[in-house]
Amino acid sequence: MRGYKLLLCGLSALGVLIGSEAQAYDLNNGRLLASNCTQCHSTNVLPKSGGYDSLVGESYNEIYGELREFKQKFNTVTKTCTENDPKECLMGVHAMPYTDQEMRDIAWYLSQR
Ligand code: HEC
Repeated sequence: MRGYKLLLCGLSALGVLIGSEAQAYDLNNGRLLASNCTQCHSTNVLPKSGGYDSLVGESYNEIYGELREFKQKFNTVTKTCTENDPKECLMGVHAMPYTDQEMRDIAWYLSQR
């Protein structure tokens, strides 16, 4: 009986490990949300001249980190941008509505391409 309990305990610990790993990023959600980004950013070819920065080859940490920074430049209560640079505000508007998990999903999806 004791062994059985230990086995159960071990299995549920494994389940938690696997579960948390599987829930870390939702690739389909990332793909859906990132479709918004491709209006302005190139994600599969070299940047067009005059276009905004390409996201090709950027890592998960770069994209997630930038999204977090842009979001922080936006006051979510007053819905106003705290920066003077209109370009920064443009990205702030886009980053603002996303939850932390959504920003992670987007960054994960874009960094896997
Ligand atoms: C309406 C156009 C527009 C949309 C849509 C948009 N961006 Fe941006 N993005 C910009 C502009 C403009 C800048 C440059 C900001 C600056 O110069 O500071 C930028 C900058 C960035 C940067 C930092 C520059 C770099 O190459 O690392 C990242 C990362 C980024 N955007 C990711 C995203 C992601 C992810 C999405 C989708 C959730 C997105 N953007 C949607 C216009 C847009």
